[in-house]
Amino acid sequence: MTATPLNPFSLLLDFRSGALQPYTSRTERHLSDMKGAYADRSALEHLVDAGDPLVYEVLQYDVPEEVGQLICCTTVLHPGTVGDEYFMTKGHYHSVRETGEVYLGLCGRGYLLLMTEEGGHSATPMGPGIVGYVPPYWAHRTVNTGEEPFVFFAVYPGQAGHDYGTIEQSGFAQRVLRAAEGPVLK
Ligand SMILES: [Fe+2]
Repeated sequence: MTATPLNPFSLLLDFRSGALQPYTSRTERHLSDMKGAYADRSALEHLVDAGDPLVYEVLQYDVPEEVGQLICCTTVLHPGTVGDEYFMTKGHYHSVRETGEVYLGLCGRGYLLLMTEEGGHSATPMGPGIVGYVPPYWAHRTVNTGEEPFVFFAVYPGQAGHDYGTIEQSGFAQRVLRAAEGPVLK
């Protein structure tokens, strides 16, 4: 397949806020959008009833979703917990499993959780300047363990697509919980 010709472009990325200028799409995930993801269902329902907080937002510059293209986006994952569990993204496999992704931490701190359908799992601490590599076939989810927004930039192949359904059914291999001694992986 021949990729659609696309003119060169540049984007302005604010390392502190994650603002990407220009962007062509913005996705918001509120707590009510990810009800099955958190272990403490009653804490989640309480928070949803109390105002349904914004958990994270993604700014993206869209290019054709085809082989050869690279999609750039920033994610702003807000601080907070559901019970003892830190705010996190929904997490996904790529629909085209043999596609990877690169994450660059910009601001705040957290974890990049990874797992495979064969039972492999990994947790990469993330923060400003840390590059996390998501190999092909690995599901990925990020968690904010700090008191400020955890902001990161990501680049992934245009044809990758997102498979959220498998995670919604299977859950993720690890959870990150707030404890007196700091974040704990379970
Ligand atoms: Fe991805």
